[in-house]
Amino acid sequence: MCGIIGFVGREEAAPILLDGLERMEYRGYDSAGIAVRSETKGLQVKKCKGRLRVLSDLTHGGADLEGTLGIGHTRWATHGEPNDINAHPHVSENGQIALVHNGIIENYLEIKEHLMKLGVTFTSDTDSEVVAQLLAFHYNECHNMLEAVGRVLRRIEGSYALGIVCSDYPNALIAARKDSPLIIGYGENGNFIASDVTAIIKHTRDVVYMGDGEIAVLTADSVDVFDDEMLPLEKQHSTVDWDVSAAEKGGYAHFMFKEIMEQPEAIRKTVSPRIREGRVVLDDVSMTAEYVRDISRIFIVACGSSYHVGMVSKYNWERLLRRPVQVDLASEFRYSDPLVDEHSLVVVISQSGETLDTMAAMREAKRRGARTLAIVNVVGSSIAREADDVLYTWAGPEIAVATTKAYSTQLVLMDLIGLYLADLLGTVEKSEYDAILAEIQALPEKLQRFLDHFEDVQYFASRYFNHNSIFFIGRNLDYAMGLEGSLKLKEISYIHSEAYASGELKHGTISLIEPGTLVVALGTYAALFDKAMSNVVEVKARGAEVLAVTTESFREKMEKTADATIVVPDTHPMLQPSLGVVPLQLFAYYVALQRGCDIDKPRNLAKSVTVE
Ligand code: AGP
Repeated sequence: MCGIIGFVGREEAAPILLDGLERMEYRGYDSAGIAVRSETKGLQVKKCKGRLRVLSDLTHGGADLEGTLGIGHTRWATHGEPNDINAHPHVSENGQIALVHNGIIENYLEIKEHLMKLGVTFTSDTDSEVVAQLLAFHYNECHNMLEAVGRVLRRIEGSYALGIVCSDYPNALIAARKDSPLIIGYGENGNFIASDVTAIIKHTRDVVYMGDGEIAVLTADSVDVFDDEMLPLEKQHSTVDWDVSAAEKGGYAHFMFKEIMEQPEAIRKTVSPRIREGRVVLDDVSMTAEYVRDISRIFIVACGSSYHVGMVSKYNWERLLRRPVQVDLASEFRYSDPLVDEHSLVVVISQSGETLDTMAAMREAKRRGARTLAIVNVVGSSIAREADDVLYTWAGPEIAVATTKAYSTQLVLMDLIGLYLADLLGTVEKSEYDAILAEIQALPEKLQRFLDHFEDVQYFASRYFNHNSIFFIGRNLDYAMGLEGSLKLKEISYIHSEAYASGELKHGTISLIEPGTLVVALGTYAALFDKAMSNVVEVKARGAEVLAVTTESFREKMEKTADATIVVPDTHPMLQPSLGVVPLQLFAYYVALQRGCDIDKPRNLAKSVTVE
């Protein structure tokens, strides 16, 4: 959840570190810090609570710190409150070692107690400081940094990406990783480590993804990577093919808005390469028709918005495949003793490819013999590398914490996979297959049509932004879409919100509806439109204010009942959430804007959740 960066080279490190941290601030933003080493000034550490600009002001844009070797960190607190002391880098008591850490050290208390008995004094409440102190302890035993790092890694349990500098090694940056992302970047003027490509794309596109248990030693001109037994490794280089502007705001006020507007193009990029001669082609999937026929149950496992994609796909895939499809929250699945075996296909969905619960669920599924297919946005991420098959969403870098374009591309990719599997199984008529595929290809244009004129969404947001509690209701695909609309709203506007399957309302929740309560009624799913309308009438009868989202076909009917109506273009019923979710994203965005919220970096959240 935190972001780490390191640089060793022929340029001043501090400005590079600050710039990289700024690009990664979405990963964590409660405190930040950098440590830079120079011959004359030794190890200099600056860290503080608050956003990165506080650190930047404190160091005059990095000008106060001298040296061409350094590490930096932007924090999302797990152990210890966000304050100056708990901020990274953490420095060993003797001032020899500074370290940044992303992840969680599970056995830190036991190690801390042991070191305290040996006389070590701790200053912070963090698990990360324990690693710095333990490293200093072992280094002073063996006087060899690599050996000391090896001893520490054998002792600590949990997840980590580490960036380490030691005053005795003025030209070397040391890195290690397990279950937390870390990449190495090869630059002209030096080499980098970072949690995320976005931090270093300005300097290099030539990267190596570190694997679990690996340790790296970087100097200005060399990178050596070792396995957990300190044997040297030959790593495969990758080239980052997206442009630096993709990770910049490009004139938009917020990344979230930019990413909403990028959705037509993102969907096009996800879809186009996968359709050839009127058929879905998934070159990266190695499942045979025979294997697919042998699948008895499909599991879709994910967290948050990715889970909501799974909810939509469950409805669509069961309809298309006539096979049981179960959608599970990864955090529940992993501990549920799941009934998964070699006849199960487990599809995991993750934008970041680093969500710990999703990764653990996938490992559990593999352990039980299932085949795993990962739908991932971040190339080279842990989930992408561990899954049996991976399909990328090609949404480009998503910076806003609240997902939009990654969600949309996941959705459309799941639709393509559904069609592909149905074709292999022979469970879809050709005419239906062709109709769905044609509509998938038309989605970018239809979405663009909506995005060219959404002034009404902005207007309704200004009308309703001061509500304290908002309900989203809908049936079937509209219910699944409502879950996402509700999550978007609560995560960036902090308004209490719930999504309900309309039919469930009268089993309890309707008691919360009182005069003036805002209900967002979703009526885009044609097959159940009339039933959904009955529920709209029920909440209206109890005084609710109803903001509806519907399709061009149902506009007239909806306008007769709802207080306000947003209309999206018609498409194949299965694909309607791809269009219907966009006004919900925009509604959340404009409500948050009206309320003065920090849209791209909502409180308490981080972009990739690498802790349990
Ligand atoms: C969505 O807006 C959230 N930020 C969050 O629910 C997210 O979808 C979830 O944490 C899963 O992330 P992943 O797709 O990277 O695994």
